[in-house]
Amino acid sequence: MDHFIYKDGVLHAEDVSVAEIAAEVGTPFYVYSSATLARHFRVFDEALHGMDHLVCYAVKANSNVAVLKVLGDLGAGMDVVSVGEYLRAKAAGVPGERIVFSGIGKTRGEMRMVLQGGIRQFNVESEPELAVLNAVAMELGVKAPITLRINPDVDAKTHAKIATGKSDNKFGIPIAQSRRVYAEAGQMDGIEVVGVDVHIGSQLIDLEPFRAAFLKVRELTEQLREDGHNIHRLDLGGGLGIPYARSNEAPPLPMDYGQVIRETVGDLGCEIEIEPGRLVAGNAGIMVTSVIYNKAGEGRDFLIVDAAMNDLIRPAMYEAHHDIIPVIEPDVGVEPKLMDIVGPVCETGDTFAKMRAMPPIQDGGLVAFRSAGAYGAVMSSEYNTRPMIPEVLVNGDQFAVIRERPSYDEMINRDKLPTWL
Ligand code: LLP
Repeated sequence: MDHFIYKDGVLHAEDVSVAEIAAEVGTPFYVYSSATLARHFRVFDEALHGMDHLVCYAVKANSNVAVLKVLGDLGAGMDVVSVGEYLRAKAAGVPGERIVFSGIGKTRGEMRMVLQGGIRQFNVESEPELAVLNAVAMELGVKAPITLRINPDVDAKTHAKIATGKSDNKFGIPIAQSRRVYAEAGQMDGIEVVGVDVHIGSQLIDLEPFRAAFLKVRELTEQLREDGHNIHRLDLGGGLGIPYARSNEAPPLPMDYGQVIRETVGDLGCEIEIEPGRLVAGNAGIMVTSVIYNKAGEGRDFLIVDAAMNDLIRPAMYEAHHDIIPVIEPDVGVEPKLMDIVGPVCETGDTFAKMRAMPPIQDGGLVAFRSAGAYGAVMSSEYNTRPMIPEVLVNGDQFAVIRERPSYDEMINRDKLPTWL
């Protein structure tokens, strides 16, 4: 459930008319619902009820500081993959002891900053990273709390670009080598082993890969304890999918995912961490755009909108589906037409949907892309010198711009001419 529904024939975000936001902010823009963000966080929190746990929101999904603050104020932890994300989490008031640091390419500089600023744990992904972290921690005279991210060699059955748990992916330490690496970590003066980490992919629509991975984590935990390690924390990653096409998709519910966790690792006496991103933010956001032109092609109708692949790259990058709906509710009985919905960028990949059934929408009319709250704004760029689009947060009947559209001057003045030109 989300909070984007028609009221009196106009799409609303909670109690605010999307048309009203468009009139004030101009299109295109993203709009997020605080109530939906909060609801999704709580659903995860409740799914782990009865187990010692921390839901660490994956900041990469939507890293606007206001979004992080909505979640952080509810007690969420944060999963970050760069110092930039770490500083955003801090700016939202989340203390270091609720922040975990993931990622395969952490640099010395990042390690140093995060160790000084406070961190719950590093999820270490390789032996060289472990050695460098040990050295940095020793230089600072501290111990870095770590898990090792293991690669369980499980097929997540998702899009190849976002599957991470197979042995041929770049992520994690192969499970077969992990006991040896834990033994090394156990000897290091700058390292404190606290647990095990796994993350097998994103947009999973089946619970079985999770079960398979968590059972491997369980087995490894038991072995590591026999080896003398104090494993008291399990980070089980993120990845639970969301319905993008509402008419025909019903991914598993967080409650059922929580049940898989309970069944597989619930009795190990470990604190459980999870890192959901998409399920928290995805359906808490929409992207709103205006129709520039209705263009009749040869046997095809094109709806050219003012948002483009630089604003929402998921369709171009992953062939992702987003439901697209008019902001003004169509009258009952209006015949939908098949059309391609495209942006203004000069490449064919700038196509949001092909042969999509839509009610006719006049030039200037507003349409909304659903499920755009995760991996939307964060993956945007200024390709074609298009300004990054603003983000708006709604809370009940209030709304505020939480990131402004830059001016053309701001964009262009970032370029510097060398002295010889
Ligand atoms: N933890 C780690 C270590 C991750 O790499 C990710 C996502 C997550 C947690 C959160 O996964 P989620 O719950 O959001 O599925 N840009 C792509 C998705 C990339 C996901 C990368 N890692 C997309 O638009 O579909």
